[in-house]
Amino acid sequence: MVDLSVEVGGLRLKNPVIAAAGTFGFGTEYARLYDVGLLGGICTKGLTLKPRPGNPPPRLWETPCGLLNSIGLENPGVEAFLQEELPRMRGLGTAVIANIWGETPEEYRELAERLSRSDVDAIELNLSCPNVPGGKIRGGVPEEVARIVGLCRRVCEKPLWVKLPPEGDVLEAAQAAERAGADAVTASNTFRALAIDIEKGRPAFAGRIGGLSGPAIKPIALRVVYELVQKLKLPVIGCGGITSWQDALEFIMAGAHAVQVGTGNFIDPLCIPKIVRGLADWLAGRGMEDLEGVRGCAH
Ligand code: FUM
Repeated sequence: MVDLSVEVGGLRLKNPVIAAAGTFGFGTEYARLYDVGLLGGICTKGLTLKPRPGNPPPRLWETPCGLLNSIGLENPGVEAFLQEELPRMRGLGTAVIANIWGETPEEYRELAERLSRSDVDAIELNLSCPNVPGGKIRGGVPEEVARIVGLCRRVCEKPLWVKLPPEGDVLEAAQAAERAGADAVTASNTFRALAIDIEKGRPAFAGRIGGLSGPAIKPIALRVVYELVQKLKLPVIGCGGITSWQDALEFIMAGAHAVQVGTGNFIDPLCIPKIVRGLADWLAGRGMEDLEGVRGCAH
């Protein structure tokens, strides 16, 4: 019998495969296709204090082996999430991780405080969205990370995860998150990237820069995880271009405690259950009972 369950950042998950924020709605959309109770967890779309309509179209732009997005954090706001979405999510049979984004450090604190009193299992601070006004990515600046994580930690009793960008002072930022009381870091969000609409002769997105995800970024995201694991005591959740169980296993061998799958869900909506099954079969085929002997073996 294989046991895929993992302990990550203060949370026990039935398996290490989590749907990444912004790629899985609030889970109910996918529940029409399969039992999403098979997932280790679901990160919600980034939640803000007030509802956000998001950026004007186009918001998605395909590249040969990746996807650019400029969604602009469209979401119904934290209040509607708590009233309408969370009760439905609770019925899905998997962990709920609320991903939050604040315009200011104080907004992060307010969101963390409200969600800490709710029925979510963990909170993930989104310090890495590239598609917001001014394009300021706080997660690349260690002092800002320390400030926001510290503010949230004081009001939040739930496990607190921090989603970092892949660029900037990532190691310093992750260490700042650790010192300020985070329970885990997610590495990483999308890479800032650009597409130009050659018919119009200008950037494809109204906000110009978007975030690149998908297989194109996997080796870089894997390298970031590999390096972070060597320096941090905190668990690292790997994210970036994972579309198969082999990809997930690479991240776990690099030392990740769990992985998040984003763009893979758009390529194949059944991607996550296939990854979970693939990991279980791989372990069983080697007579292994869990992931303990595998995690970090590549170091
Ligand atoms: O534009 C967006 O909503 C993207 C968010 C993110 O990458 O965190």
